[in-house]
Amino acid sequence: MKLENTLYFAKEQDQRDELNIFREQFLFPKFKDKSFIYLCGNSLGLQPKVAKEVLSKQLDNWATYAVEGWFDGDEPWMFYHKELKKLMAPIVGAMPSEVCPMNTLTVNLHLLMVSFYQPKGKRFKIIMEGGAFPSDQYAIESQVKFHGFNPKEAIIEVFPRNGEEILRTEDIVAKIKENGDEIALVLFGGINYYTGQWYDMETITKAGHSIGAIVGWDLAHAAGNVPVKLHDWNVDFACWCSYKYQNAGPGGISGIFVHEKHFNNSDLNRFAGWWGYQESKRFKMEKGFIPESGADGWQVSCTQVMPMALYHASLQIFQKAGYLNKLRAKSISLTKYLEFIINEVNKDLSIDQYKIITPKNPEERGAQLSIIAAEKGKEIFDGLVEYGILGDWREPNVIRLSPIPLYNSFEDIYLTGKALTEVTRKILKSN
Ligand SMILES: Cc1ncc(COP(=O)(O)O)c(C=O)c1O
Repeated sequence: MKLENTLYFAKEQDQRDELNIFREQFLFPKFKDKSFIYLCGNSLGLQPKVAKEVLSKQLDNWATYAVEGWFDGDEPWMFYHKELKKLMAPIVGAMPSEVCPMNTLTVNLHLLMVSFYQPKGKRFKIIMEGGAFPSDQYAIESQVKFHGFNPKEAIIEVFPRNGEEILRTEDIVAKIKENGDEIALVLFGGINYYTGQWYDMETITKAGHSIGAIVGWDLAHAAGNVPVKLHDWNVDFACWCSYKYQNAGPGGISGIFVHEKHFNNSDLNRFAGWWGYQESKRFKMEKGFIPESGADGWQVSCTQVMPMALYHASLQIFQKAGYLNKLRAKSISLTKYLEFIINEVNKDLSIDQYKIITPKNPEERGAQLSIIAAEKGKEIFDGLVEYGILGDWREPNVIRLSPIPLYNSFEDIYLTGKALTEVTRKILKSN
């Protein structure tokens, strides 16, 4: 389809979009006397309108039943996470038994590394993407130190070639093979937070397995954004947060995935807690940890009812929208339109002010575009916020904009382009 930089065209796309009805179910930010166009779901998803109601329901349950709430009422907390598992599984292409909501992302990354990073002899290295999100870098660095290794020796980072922004799959695979018998763990982010690159997860997982390593993924920027098939791709483990593309609120509960092939592997270490104990015998309070089967056996602490209630409500919206089938198709169109509009801004300004570093191929990206400004990037970003456009800024020099198919429109993108042209002209002229 030929894209057009007109309000008429954008509105026409919105009218044709059968998912447009979901926009109504979210609250858009309003502050500084402005209503904002929101393109920052890559960082924190918008609040579903139903969020207050579901929290209030759990507060009522607490008030009514107090401790009996664990077993009484229409949603006893004791079993609350089970419904959530069913809703989470399709988000990451897993079986419900392979996923579990618990803790927060970096905490889960640590817990899963306790199980799946088990260095032996010369096989002690972890390979990861260079420029991974800092929390992943710190988690991996501290894990290798915990095992007594020097991070400089134990961590292999793969960087893009000189002059390139994006990692080539062939380079990742080559690096894995080159260090074959020294690699214990391949641990990448599904989508890189900075560039927006969606790695070829299936190929990388296969490459990791071909040299005898375990393969795990941090899906912070992928879960709820792009369709992943953790079970079919034979991924060993993964974890994600729910507060970005899944709209479950700041600091929302994280999810873990453990492939069923590991369910009966008693060689895996665990940092255990009572909630991971065999459910039927948990309250016998016996000595000696016996894990519940499946991903539930990685739980440590009791069910976090409030954040789970928010995640539950937001996943019901995904379920109504048919999960990522239609949403992904819309996401591809929205992001393509944003890419087109950014290029139109360059044309309007008659300079190459904006360069998109995210891959062009929709199979290599999700919703997010990462944009580098030739000049005055941070001032322009601040100008956009003043104007009423919320994306985010990531040091050293990238503006991230992410149209979210559940709540963004083509009109949002058209208006963002107008704003970007106006703000850029003003800022470049004033210098
Ligand atoms: C790739 C990645 N890993 C880890 C984190 C940290 O998550 P948390 O603070 O929930 O542990 C983030 C947060 O944005 C992230 O993007």
